[in-house]
Amino acid sequence: MRKILVTSALPYANGSIHLGHLVEYLQTDIWVRHQKMSNNDCTYVCADDAHGTPIMLKARELNITPEKLIEKSKKEHIEDFTDFHIEFDNYYTTHSEENRMLSELIYNNLKSNEAIERREIEQYYDENEEMFLPDRYIKGTCPKCGEKDQYGDSCEKCGATYSSTDVVDPISVISNSKPIKKKTEHLFFKLSDYEKFLNEWLTDNRVQKEIHNKMKEWLSDGLSSWDITRDKPYFGFSIPGEKEKFFYVWLDAPVGYIASFKNLCDKNSIDYLEAWKKDSEVELYHFIGKDIAYFHVLFWPSMLEGAGFRTPTSVFCHGFLTIDGEKMSKSRGTFIKARTYLNHLNPEYLRYYFASRLTSKIEDIDLNFNDFVARVNSDLVGKVINIGSRCARFINKDFDNTLASKSNNQSLIAHVLEKKNAIQTNYENRDFSKNIRVISSLADDVNKYIDEEKPWIKIKDEENNEIVQEVCSDGINMFKVLIGYLKPVLPKIAENVEKLLRCSPIDWYNIDQLILKEKIETFKPLITRVDEKSIEIIKTEAKED
Ligand code: MSP
Ligand code: ZN
Repeated sequence: MRKILVTSALPYANGSIHLGHLVEYLQTDIWVRHQKMSNNDCTYVCADDAHGTPIMLKARELNITPEKLIEKSKKEHIEDFTDFHIEFDNYYTTHSEENRMLSELIYNNLKSNEAIERREIEQYYDENEEMFLPDRYIKGTCPKCGEKDQYGDSCEKCGATYSSTDVVDPISVISNSKPIKKKTEHLFFKLSDYEKFLNEWLTDNRVQKEIHNKMKEWLSDGLSSWDITRDKPYFGFSIPGEKEKFFYVWLDAPVGYIASFKNLCDKNSIDYLEAWKKDSEVELYHFIGKDIAYFHVLFWPSMLEGAGFRTPTSVFCHGFLTIDGEKMSKSRGTFIKARTYLNHLNPEYLRYYFASRLTSKIEDIDLNFNDFVARVNSDLVGKVINIGSRCARFINKDFDNTLASKSNNQSLIAHVLEKKNAIQTNYENRDFSKNIRVISSLADDVNKYIDEEKPWIKIKDEENNEIVQEVCSDGINMFKVLIGYLKPVLPKIAENVEKLLRCSPIDWYNIDQLILKEKIETFKPLITRVDEKSIEIIKTEAKED
């Protein structure tokens, strides 16, 4: 039995969960469910990322305290995740005592290990708001190409990145006034001291090939120290021993992984260090999006190393969601919130569709709504679910709910079961799309067998009773295996099929046990076809959200 600790990136507490986020939480949830079906001791933790300037400003805008805002967001996020059947072992917040303690511990360890340096820097300061301005809150003219109205860190026109103090004619986005340059003393994490460590860490399959190459590029470009300080006003943890200085949100955010795990462990009287101490035997995996790779493959492992903790076994990075081939956009009605989707469509449609698109690569994944309807209606409902509904009806109606005592087609059953190892390997490697293809093609084979046996004709002649019962029992048994294969993707349907067949929860060990002579329940519809009108309604509502 493997011991595995899994995380997804912590969503910010100032916005709703949208379909883009769900790529990640569904990918992770499917992977974790697969591990649990393998009887591995797998723990999945996450939390809201509750600190930082945007959250502070959003609370101000709503005229509530940041504490109130993050409490509201956390509740909403948990409801969204639960309704998508995303099952965390613990969902916490970075605004917690555990996280404060651990952030301070890591910082103090880094400090004693001489990984922290102090330097005076110059930053833009908004005199009206009495605050230093993060890059995103400065706009101005690009110093490279002269394009107006660009953010303080990069230009959308020419793609240049630069320091905010180089922006021409800067303006504070918060008060629309002209900021002044002001000196402030900041603490930095000396990332360049970890170059040798990172080069070593990078071997051993820690990251995917694309990220591996990217990291080599970053490493050969040279690493600069990382500013971990923010001045007041800031919603976050104050830095111990400093006056009116706070940890930058990206320092305490990944520490939130440890804090959420510790919070869970404390409830169960387990020592969280078992998973986080150096040389721990627990495997540790972080699922993240490509936009935050830098934080997870450079800063985070170095921080852990420098503070004397274990480092991640691997970081799994995914691409971004596009909708109908384009970036999500409010005006096109494709910036769809989890809740807007849930109000009109079944969450398992999206779980199935994303699974059909997800691979181990970092390519962006597209939600094409025509394809979504086709995959769900023709493949899932029309092929897989169809096997269960057509066979169960005969067993219910003509055989007093009782399955046959033997099989009529052992070779087909063997053919379906033979794919088990490949399916498990594909889940393990995050090649979910391969599994959806294999399962769909197996469903074709099973449907073809039933079509050839024509139970609906044979049942008319009593002489054929035995064979019809056997064919339909075969269908039911293979349906059980296919639903077992899909169980990490479709947990709710799988649960209902287990009830229908009165069988124990399907896992990778009992999946090949045939059910013979047993009684089953009356078939109830497991999922309906997608109603295309719902998609139009969602898009309209997404424009208004
Ligand atoms: N709070 C940080 C993560 C801190 S982890 C210690 C953050 N939050 S986020 O809400 O912006 O994003 C959470 C996760 O969702 C990230 O991994 C991000 O890449 C992912 N996604 C956000 N939008 C996405 C898409 N449109 N498509 C796919 N994933 C996306 O980053
Ligand atoms: Zn430019």
